[in-house]
Amino acid sequence: MSDLVIQPSRGLHGTITLPGDKSISHRSVIFSSIAEGETVINGFLTGEDTINTAKAMQTLGINIDGLGSGSLLVKGKGLDGLAEPAGILDLGNSGTGMRLLAGLLAGQDFFSVLTGDQYLRKRPMARIAEPLRRMGALIDGRANGKLAPLAIRGAGKHARPLDYVSPVASAQVKSALLLCGLYADGETRVSEPSKSRDHTERMLRFFGVEVKEEGLRVSLKGRQTLRSPKAIDIPSDISSAAFFLVAATIVPGSDLTIMNVGVNPTRTGIVDILNAMGADITLQNQREQAGEPVADLRVKHQRLRAITIAGEVIPRAIDEIPVISVAAAYASGTTIIRDATELRVKESDRIATMAAELRKLGVDVKELPDGMEIEGRESLDGARCESHGDHRIAMSLAIAGLAATGATRVRDAEWIETSFPGFERLLQNTAYQ
Ligand code: S3P
Repeated sequence: MSDLVIQPSRGLHGTITLPGDKSISHRSVIFSSIAEGETVINGFLTGEDTINTAKAMQTLGINIDGLGSGSLLVKGKGLDGLAEPAGILDLGNSGTGMRLLAGLLAGQDFFSVLTGDQYLRKRPMARIAEPLRRMGALIDGRANGKLAPLAIRGAGKHARPLDYVSPVASAQVKSALLLCGLYADGETRVSEPSKSRDHTERMLRFFGVEVKEEGLRVSLKGRQTLRSPKAIDIPSDISSAAFFLVAATIVPGSDLTIMNVGVNPTRTGIVDILNAMGADITLQNQREQAGEPVADLRVKHQRLRAITIAGEVIPRAIDEIPVISVAAAYASGTTIIRDATELRVKESDRIATMAAELRKLGVDVKELPDGMEIEGRESLDGARCESHGDHRIAMSLAIAGLAATGATRVRDAEWIETSFPGFERLLQNTAYQ
């Protein structure tokens, strides 16, 4: 158990580079494993979540060199090259790892068991298990098959395509079904209520798979071959950049540039929301990398004003709502966040945990069933806060502490390692020069 102690900052400066995108890292190692040929992955996130996914692929018989280094060599074995795992696959804290692998394993001709840590074992799995059963897999688990550990007898050559209308905008659900759909004979279609991140669609195309998109519906035909693109260069994670975007915005005197950040439009809600609140964030040197848009982000301090955050922007900023609530705590006026019920089933119940922790910092917060109302203040009061076993809560509270009076202590901050190794060192180097 480690605590992170944050002192007030007098400004964030310089040019920084951040770890690779978590969503793209998970997908890169999964797709390379079932592709024909070898793939070099540069910029792979060496966080616990993505390492666990890579280890799971190794347990499924894939040879991966360089694990832990950020530059992997994956020796793909094609669509039918995975082997029945001898042991249980443990995805640790990662919902993405578990749900995407459940989709992949539902299409295999063998038996497997997926588990995770105490937090992941509480998160809803029916959202993937139920449609994957309709595709022919046998899936059981705790709570009548709704919670991990999940035991999966894959559908193999009996996998059936599915036309699925998802009740939630979830890239994990969409990706799980598309992965299983790769093994089905026919076309699998997934539509969602608003657009979730489309890294799966982009990366499948990068591997030569034909993926159709009509409005909010994505579809693919099964049994298509994935061909290794030889190399994938993963951009920095905009969800990690989000902490520095908010930090530089709220700490007077800041002027910071974050290099090589993924700016996929399904992920840039954080930039749109902060700029709508009056922030000064510009995208520079926009380019494309491995089928994904990339840019350098420059951010300068600005006083923020409250807005209402709701509707289609929510899935585009879903992982950033905790740090956006910190920005709101420093904005003038009352910020209202709605349509964000999904926050309740993330690594922690992020509405409840953020509301509780912001209150410790002196903020007046009202919890709503699907969001929060946050009264902004000039400054917050440094306090002793808890991570609730959630990396993004821990980092959001550290950022809140940068512009507070006195020290802020974040307890159990080691959870940050799941997605952002080196966070504390980078913050020290950027915020206290
Ligand atoms: C992710 C999708 C999102 C997001 C998660 C990563 C992904 O989850 O919150 O951190 O990589 O597909 P949902 O699909 O549950 O919305």
